[in-house]
Amino acid sequence: MKNRPSEFTVQHWLFTEAMGKFDLDLGESGIQCRRLNGLRPEQALALDYAPDRGQTPLREVLAGLYQVDPAQILITHGAQEGLFLFYCTTLGPGDHVVTTLPGWQQSWEIPRWLGAEVSFIRLRRDRGCSLDLAELRRNIRKNTKLLVFNFPNNPTGCDLSEEEWREVAALANTHGLRVINDEEYLCDYSSSLVQRVPGSAAVSGLSKVYGFPGLRLGWLIADIAALGTATNMKRYTTICNSSLCEHLGRKVLERRATFLEAYRAMTRAGLAILKAWLPAHPVLGLLEPQGTPFGYLTVPPSVDSAALAKRLLHEHRTLVMPGEVFGDVHALRLTFGRPPALLRRGLQALARVL
Ligand SMILES: Cc1ncc(COP(=O)(O)O)c(C=O)c1O
Repeated sequence: MKNRPSEFTVQHWLFTEAMGKFDLDLGESGIQCRRLNGLRPEQALALDYAPDRGQTPLREVLAGLYQVDPAQILITHGAQEGLFLFYCTTLGPGDHVVTTLPGWQQSWEIPRWLGAEVSFIRLRRDRGCSLDLAELRRNIRKNTKLLVFNFPNNPTGCDLSEEEWREVAALANTHGLRVINDEEYLCDYSSSLVQRVPGSAAVSGLSKVYGFPGLRLGWLIADIAALGTATNMKRYTTICNSSLCEHLGRKVLERRATFLEAYRAMTRAGLAILKAWLPAHPVLGLLEPQGTPFGYLTVPPSVDSAALAKRLLHEHRTLVMPGEVFGDVHALRLTFGRPPALLRRGLQALARVL
């Protein structure tokens, strides 16, 4: 194994540089977080270990939503653990991985730490940040083992069309590649990668769309053999998830329709506020969000987006994510999945800094 992974820049910005210094959070990438009241946990719940794969009723609910066998589902500490376990049990020295940039740093740091080589496909703004399939094809090598995607994408907000997914599936099939999609922002599980590409894997969780990041509840879906290996790896890391959080997670999924409706209403209203505000600030461009609760705002090359985000934090106690933390420049990720009054105050602060 090579040296330890480098500093996780997005987490460093949030937890080390910004934590405690903001009152207005337009930076965290999920919808405004929710509270425990209303989920009404059963008081008599036994706080035993959960099964290593997760409680059966929870896995059955997910299996129904994804139309897969419950044996293909592993409950994890957020999507983050699902991805980690999958990389650890899929990759090793000599393997090659292709992923996208700007992106989620875990998708290159952990494969590299495991000894794999990583190539990047840049999501180009002049092409609406869609995936350049020709470039993807050019990057496939003899030792390419895994394609790592995250669509709808953090931070750009872009998604792939049906046609583009079909081409990815054909490519994976022709070259015998494994594919995983980080589906944190997917609402309709019937369009998960696991439905589109046989043998593929996906992760998701309750952090972003449902607003429960503090439950640390996510899942990995993969073929039965891969799931078994990942489950064994989990026994060496967290053993199992919290039985209390699994209990609460099941309650969230049982009321999924209500949560999704609230998510759609809040993001629709928030995006309308953002779009109404933008024309007065022509220095900013917006990449049209395709299903994410945040937008990727571009600034001209003369503007240092990291410095802009720092001023917003230190002078106005407002959090946004500079593109730099995703391996990009001249961009800000701003979350509009917020109550209108909070969003407007955050935008006013940004206007002052601009
Ligand atoms: C693209 C992406 N993947 C994974 C994660 C991890 O989230 P969690 O472990 O809370 O599900 C995040 C969180 O911001 C994310 O944006």
